[in-house]
Amino acid sequence: MWVEGMTLPKVIEEARILSHETPITGVDILTLAAPMIAHTALPGQFVQVSVPADTGFLRRPLGIAEVSRTDGWIRLIYRQVGHGTKGLAEEETGAFVSVLGPLGNGFDTALRHPLLVGGGMGLTPLLFFAAEHPHVSVLMGGRTKEEVFWEEIYRPHVSECFITTDDGSYGAQGFVTTLLPTLLRDGDYDGVAVCGPSVMMERVAAVAAQYNIPCEVSLERRMACGLGACLSCAVDTKSGRRKVCKDGPVFPAAEVYGDG
Ligand code: FES
Repeated sequence: MWVEGMTLPKVIEEARILSHETPITGVDILTLAAPMIAHTALPGQFVQVSVPADTGFLRRPLGIAEVSRTDGWIRLIYRQVGHGTKGLAEEETGAFVSVLGPLGNGFDTALRHPLLVGGGMGLTPLLFFAAEHPHVSVLMGGRTKEEVFWEEIYRPHVSECFITTDDGSYGAQGFVTTLLPTLLRDGDYDGVAVCGPSVMMERVAAVAAQYNIPCEVSLERRMACGLGACLSCAVDTKSGRRKVCKDGPVFPAAEVYGDG
């Protein structure tokens, strides 16, 4: 079904679950047959997935982690954080879910050698970027070794993979911002794309600004409609109030953080 009023066509697909994996407790990887969305989706965009809830069905925004345009599937990687995502996690292979998308504006991928910086589940939309770009590096952070299960998923897609953990159980001890200044000083990166907790994104944007490297951030907000109609996702930026679902979720850091 085509949804009117969008600059790009959005569709609702009744998508069959092709596989459902659990890399660590509380995190799910769903691969869905959604050929129309897979065909047009761009890195940084998201979908609204209809999930069972006590009161009926709710749509939940989830970043697109990967697509196969030839095989017609999209992959979602998400943490179970509420009724919606917990309900979705109970769906098994072969079940159908309703998916609306692709939504929002994605990353600028026209870069020679971008550095992707992700923390926790912020690595989801950046994975799509990595999979679509021929020469990309990633800096990933997690609290523990278990939380950087992403390394195995990213390795086939990236030139370099740098890892930090808060507790030092894997990679360098510290935060992504512990390694970032050295990487930006010694590397040949011409852009930074970051997604993760807001404090992390703001700090990454500040470091990128110090090195005069353009930085984009992917914001996360509660979203009701996902289509620019309800204002539940509004955010104040240097260019006024913007809707994360429609004007973002990807914004230039300088627009969101001022000096970023
Ligand atoms: Fe409704 Fe963004 S979620 S306007």
